[in-house]
Amino acid sequence: MIPINMPKIGEEEIQAVVKVMRSGVLTSGLGAGPNVSEFEKNYSEFAGVNHAIAVNTGTAALHAALMAAGIKAGDEVILPSFTFVATAEAVVLAGGKPVFADIDPQTYLLSPDATEKALTNKTKAIVPVDLYGLPADIKPIREIAAKDGLAIVEDCAQSHGATYMGKPAGAQADIACWSLYAAKNIGTGEGGVVTTDNDDLAEKVRMVRTHGEKVKYQSQILGTNYRMTEIQAAIGIVQLRKLPEFFEARAQHASRLTQNLEKSDKIMLPPKFANRSPSWYLYTVRIIDATEKERNAIIEEMHQKGIGAEAYYPTPIHQMPYYKENFGHFNLLETEKAAKQVLSLPIHPAVTDEQIDFIATTFLNLLQRQ
Ligand SMILES: Cc1ncc(COP(=O)(O)O)c(C=O)c1O
Repeated sequence: MIPINMPKIGEEEIQAVVKVMRSGVLTSGLGAGPNVSEFEKNYSEFAGVNHAIAVNTGTAALHAALMAAGIKAGDEVILPSFTFVATAEAVVLAGGKPVFADIDPQTYLLSPDATEKALTNKTKAIVPVDLYGLPADIKPIREIAAKDGLAIVEDCAQSHGATYMGKPAGAQADIACWSLYAAKNIGTGEGGVVTTDNDDLAEKVRMVRTHGEKVKYQSQILGTNYRMTEIQAAIGIVQLRKLPEFFEARAQHASRLTQNLEKSDKIMLPPKFANRSPSWYLYTVRIIDATEKERNAIIEEMHQKGIGAEAYYPTPIHQMPYYKENFGHFNLLETEKAAKQVLSLPIHPAVTDEQIDFIATTFLNLLQRQ
């Protein structure tokens, strides 16, 4: 099976882990051991902002960022429903109420118009998600947020290497949250990072990461243990160094797939922009007019041919049992339609050109039979 994504780990990562094990320093009480500190320095340069705070998952990054932004019980947070469930979990864990807004059908990203319509006097933050690695449309979202003094917490879990208006993804939000889960563009097994230019938010995230402390055993705010280990950070240092090479391979595979697929009028290919470039975390197409059953049948047949095509995400969050029971009904037509018609194809660095051609031919043949 050609998996949809997989970690690319080499001898350098293995040696980096061995070095940490031999050093005996596996973590640090206040969260910044030598490898974590080096990783954070490198990550803040990569993200184009002043602060990077390493944590132990992307979900923790989102939760810590929302806590630092001051989300508390009763506060409403606007976010898309067409994302991985962690985006909404973090809002609920921080005490906030998720208010799901619809997506733009061309990009699958939070629609600025729908965001504006979802505003109430209880809205405290907006969480745009860079789904599939395409940066959210931050400029209009910033204008909406600025009017009411709302925080923008960007979910950059999938956007390592993406840019928006010439800057790295996340750099134009108040605070951005990244995942280093094994299957992401770079990974540390589990891991996450919060990035921001705001000194106050950075300090709060650092405190949340270690029990609300600046000084040991003196909790000043509510915190938890979201520390990244030295082993994770050592892997992260190497992976971040390799990101340009990984990105190049993904971008080349994406362009080869586009050349193969653009002859079909049955599918909508990933959108192109002059001022935004994706990380190519996922290469996602929409099968125009397909029912959910037809889309799922194609995925199933791709699996039978050894291709790990997947639908991200087949169930929008507002339709999941927990969210339906606790947060009620949302009318999200574009989200519900996209969830039935999208499918993603493998383009990760370990895929070969021959495999890309095989993926394209197989997919086009299955579409013909529809
Ligand atoms: C959009 C999105 N948000 C949040 C997360 C959560 O990250 P993690 O799995 O590292 O907790 C992920 C990845 O899994 C994701 O894809």
